Amino acid sequence: MRKFLCVLALALISLPALAQDEGMTLQHANINLSNTASLQRGAKFFVNYCMGCHSARYVRYNRVGKDLGLTDVQLESYLMLAGGKASDTMVSAMPQADAKKWFGIPPPDLSLEAESRGTDWIYTYLQSFYLDPKSATGVNNVVFPHTAMPQVLWELQGTQKAIFTTVKNPDGSTYEVFNRFEQVTPGKLTPEQFDKADRDITNFLAYMGDPIAIKSRDLGLKVIGFLIVFFLFAYLLKREIWKKIH
Ligand code: HEC
Repeated sequence: MRKFLCVLALALISLPALAQDEGMTLQHANINLSNTASLQRGAKFFVNYCMGCHSARYVRYNRVGKDLGLTDVQLESYLMLAGGKASDTMVSAMPQADAKKWFGIPPPDLSLEAESRGTDWIYTYLQSFYLDPKSATGVNNVVFPHTAMPQVLWELQGTQKAIFTTVKNPDGSTYEVFNRFEQVTPGKLTPEQFDKADRDITNFLAYMGDPIAIKSRDLGLKVIGFLIVFFLFAYLLKREIWKKIH
């Protein structure tokens, strides 16, 4: 058992080190699930820039509308771009078979993506596309090398190239380590605005993966508030009762 724990500890310690080796230090997404405006913007980005290929099959439009404080009219004009019913789930119009033909791999459902990859991963992934003439899509990605996904946010982010440093092994062989990005053409957004848009999209994906998180937080705060008030009353009552006994 102890041996097993040692191996487990070593494996956990070496995981971030491995990630470092590949030059893919993840950036902090710094999302905030209680920021409704950010979630609303994220939802809008999601339907405009992601749902052309990806679905969120476990998420219903009317649930999103309710959680994000949208009226039925806002929901329809903001998010339900392809029409349909408010009770429909967020399914992409792209047929899976075609998607597979075009990209070689169907774009995965993103309902639970934040749960499986983590928000820092998604946030960094969306920032890390770079021009690569050798790739079929014209881009590659530092976080997910050779991803079949094109750079769908290029209009907002602009294009960038990746600078790699060549590192020599003791045996003379070499490998490349990611160093930094250099902007090639500007996008519609400044880098700061793009980070914010990326954070909003990531926030929305996190919400989809755990829609009750918003509610649990609210409930938690209410319960704590109730306990504080209750404690105050209990304390005053105790004082009152003991006063008489003395
Ligand atoms: C033009 C089609 C297309 C669009 C639009 C698109 N994607 Fe993708 N996406 C793909 C494909 C294809 C893959 C599969 C990549 C692979 O496995 O190599 C993918 C993979 C991903 C992954 C990684 C999934 C995993 O865990 O392996 C994430 C995260 C993702 N997309 C997020 C997004 C977000 C967020 C948007 C909107 C801003 C978006 N995608 C828009 C085609 C697209």
